[in-house]
Amino acid sequence: MSITKEAELIGMQKASEAVAHTLREMRDFARPGMTTKQLDDHGAKTLMDFGAKSAPYLAYGFPGWTCISVNNEFCHGIPSDKRILKEGDLVNIDVSAELDGFWSDNGNSFVLGEDVNGHQKLVDASKQILYKAIHSIKGGVRLSDIGYLIETEAKRHGYKVIKNLTGHGIGRSLHEEPGDIANYRDRSNLTRFRKNSVVAIETFISTTSTYAETLGDGWTMVGNRGGFMAQHEHTIVVTDREPIILTGMNGVWN
Ligand code: CO
Ligand code: CO
Repeated sequence: MSITKEAELIGMQKASEAVAHTLREMRDFARPGMTTKQLDDHGAKTLMDFGAKSAPYLAYGFPGWTCISVNNEFCHGIPSDKRILKEGDLVNIDVSAELDGFWSDNGNSFVLGEDVNGHQKLVDASKQILYKAIHSIKGGVRLSDIGYLIETEAKRHGYKVIKNLTGHGIGRSLHEEPGDIANYRDRSNLTRFRKNSVVAIETFISTTSTYAETLGDGWTMVGNRGGFMAQHEHTIVVTDREPIILTGMNGVWN
């Protein structure tokens, strides 16, 4: 969406506060021994307290309030009472929601507890790349230039990017104009970021895979060549200077 009046900015700020606060709550709540269903229930309660509804459920009928993906699972993991979190797991939580007609999206990967499996380096690279990407966006910049930046930075850190997972426009629905914001230079995409538009920028930084494939459950995505992936995502408003980071309070850069 494009922000044309104060009420729209306030609406986006409220929806973004709900998803950012929920993401932060869930990250703080996660403990080894807990199931991903317990973690999702906590997220559901937090979103409900804001009056927000799960975006993936509303938009696609996703069987959970939030997406929780663990280790080899890259994204869209279904919360389960059989999946027990362990020390050192690479966990991705993605929280997106609708509140009063406004939609916001954010996500982050983190290492649960002690980094016994050595995932922190990947997580830190993804965080830094998101920071660099977001601070390079302003009105007039090509979407493909941000894709190129993400891919170049990933390579510099010794990683790859997932080509079929992307950022996206957001606001009045979960996915809208200007369409897919790839993590590589898509030369066919000549679209530029427009001032006042709302977009969700997300990294998909991986150790070995370059595509994500859907498992038989119809939701969970894993890598075409295995390995691990880290994702960090913020919903922002593009300006002609630094963007406004609507989901900033999720604290993914802290
Ligand atoms: Co998104
Ligand atoms: Co998301």
